[in-house]
Amino acid sequence: MKNTFIAPSVLAADFANLQRDIEIINHSDADWFHVDIMDGMFVPNISFGMPVLKAIKKHATKLLDVHLMIENPDRYIKEFVDLGAEIITVHYEACPHLHRTIQLIHSYGIKAGVALNPHTNVKLLGNMLEEIDLVCIMSVNPGFGGQAFIENTYNKIKALREFSKIKNPDLLIEIDGGVSIKNAKKLVDAGANVLVSGSSIFGAANPADTIIQMKKEIVD
Ligand code: DX5
Ligand code: ZN
Repeated sequence: MKNTFIAPSVLAADFANLQRDIEIINHSDADWFHVDIMDGMFVPNISFGMPVLKAIKKHATKLLDVHLMIENPDRYIKEFVDLGAEIITVHYEACPHLHRTIQLIHSYGIKAGVALNPHTNVKLLGNMLEEIDLVCIMSVNPGFGGQAFIENTYNKIKALREFSKIKNPDLLIEIDGGVSIKNAKKLVDAGANVLVSGSSIFGAANPADTIIQMKKEIVD
């Protein structure tokens, strides 16, 4: 399928060899870098913050897709833009004024995404789907890499793709959590066009080769 993107999740990289792992992705067939920011409040884990993002940006040659798993993300949008984020995704469940948050992200001229936890119905975005560039369907409960993929995700993708046909045919549907070579094709067939993958790429003996194989799965 055309216009399908692979976004390795830096969370699964070796932080003691971050530059090396970023260069692997730079020279691979991957399309984006997916960067997970966790605050220990919205999710029960803390990942990394601005200094690490700055270090990633220094070496990354591909788009930075920043996934904010933080409460009240409005406080930090400008800072993430200044650090080089080209897509910022916030959580539906963390934003009481989601419309305002999306407007704020767009005011900096970058793409805005909304992530949905596994329990959140895709229909809840019905009143603002036209204004969102990307919906990230969480296929695990956010907070940790390496978790098992939740099978109901396929139903959510199909429902959102159907629903977006009228309201936003160009919508990017990103899947995050438990994505591997095994389920990549099924996800794209259901309507996904961005696949985030952490442990199955960085945990592989040859990450670049795993990306090639994943691409093959989704292009054929
Ligand atoms: C989970 C993060 C994911 C995570 C995916 O909260 O949002 O991006 O890094 O990791 P894997 O691919 O290992 O499930
Ligand atoms: Zn993520």
